[in-house]
Parts: sequence; structure tokens; C-alpha cells
Amino acid sequence: MRVIKVGSYEEMSRVAANIIAAQIILKPDSVLGLATGSSPVGTYKRLIEMCKSGDLDFSRITTVNLDEYCGLDGSHEQSYRYFMDVNLFNHVNIDKANTHVPSGTASDFNQECKRYDQLIEGLGGIDLQLLGIGHNGHIGFNEPEDFFEKGTHLVDLKQSTIDANSRFFERKEDVPRQAITMGIKTIMSAKKVLLIASGADKKEILEKALYGPITPQVPASILQLHNDLTVVCNVD
Ligand code: F6R
Repeated sequence: MRVIKVGSYEEMSRVAANIIAAQIILKPDSVLGLATGSSPVGTYKRLIEMCKSGDLDFSRITTVNLDEYCGLDGSHEQSYRYFMDVNLFNHVNIDKANTHVPSGTASDFNQECKRYDQLIEGLGGIDLQLLGIGHNGHIGFNEPEDFFEKGTHLVDLKQSTIDANSRFFERKEDVPRQAITMGIKTIMSAKKVLLIASGADKKEILEKALYGPITPQVPASILQLHNDLTVVCNVD
């Protein structure tokens, strides 16, 4: 595990974007696993700048996102598909057909989970997975549980996650109660994992995840077993 401590959100974003840029330059047809939330917004901004200045080419890149809310379609402003379009895809030369987010409006979620796992497998797996971490240690929407869920699956979001995410919705009642998320095995199968965390409120959970016992009660703790994990953080 490599832990890169930085002094600000901006610095975290620059370092994370540089690591992703290096991946794209070294392997222009990379499969990138992407995250939403506040943590990666600055990283995506920086990647957009690099693309606009001609330093980065997304034309052969494929992306697979970690998760999506159930019940929201891609045109909903709080859907993760919408987030990705607005914060990254609309501004870089990526082929939208090569950007994948689980469907939040599938008629059969079990089928959608299977389809998503097969899609990732068919792409040859993920080259670099970008992750944020929730205050309860979740990665993607893998919430604290008694066991690690392996594949893409449906989750009942914990109240703490609903509360944290309600900041993006007009009313707390509007926050979806369920989501579809990549599982731990898929995340752990990524060749490289890049975890970013910013803010003093993430310090305690990040320490637990990186140095505490490996337990499904702190889903991110499994990352200690990944052999190419880079953490870029600003939590002090
Ligand atoms: C989002 C995701 C979540 C977030 C986590 C942290 O796709 O996978 O696990 O990374 O909830 O969210 P922020 O960055 O908003 O603190």
C-alpha cells in the first residue's frame, strides 16, 4: 500500500488526476472504474483540463461506474449517470457508448446485476479503480455487513448513508433507499486501486480501513489485501 498525504483537496485532486493520466498514457485503451460523490469532482476537473489542453486522450477509454441509485434514470439530476455526464463525460473526448453505469431503472435488478458483472468480465476487468470512502467505511455502496458481497448486487442503504447523501436532494424522503453496486470481488480484481479521501471527518474511518482489522463491518478494510493500492488523502 502506498499512502500519499497531501495538504488540500486541490492537491489530492491533482495527484489523483496525475495517477489516472499516467494510466491512460501508458495504456490508452484502459478500463477505468469510476466513482461519484464529492471526493472525485476535483480529480475529474483536472482530467478535463488535461484533455482540453491536448495532454490526454479518452478516445479509446472505457469506463465502468461503481454504482447507481435504484429508481432514478439517467436524466434525473441526482442519478450517478447524470453526475458522470456533467462532471466528466460531457467534457472529454470519450465515446459515451463506452461509458457504463448500472441501470437504476432495470425491470429485473438481478438480471441487471448479472449483466453488469458479465460486461466487466467481457472487458477483461478493470485496469484502475477509483474509490471514495463513506463515513461508515463503505466503498461503492458496499455497506457494513456480516459478510463481503462478491458480485454486483442490490443494497438497502444504511440510514447513515441516506442521511449523508440527503445533502444532494431537496427532501430527505427523495433519497432512494436502494442502490445497485459493484461487489467487493470485482473491486478487488481491479489491477490497481486508487482511494481518495479528503476532510478531517474521514480521518477516523480511513485509519480504521487502512490499519484496523479486515472486516466486512468496515468494507474498505479489504483493500489492505490489494497488492496495488494507492491512497491519496488530506484528512489531518
Ligand atoms: C459513489 C461511491 C461512494 C462514495 C462515498 C464517499 O460512487 O461509490 O462510495 O465514494 O460515499 O462519498 P463522498 O466522496 O461524497 O464523501
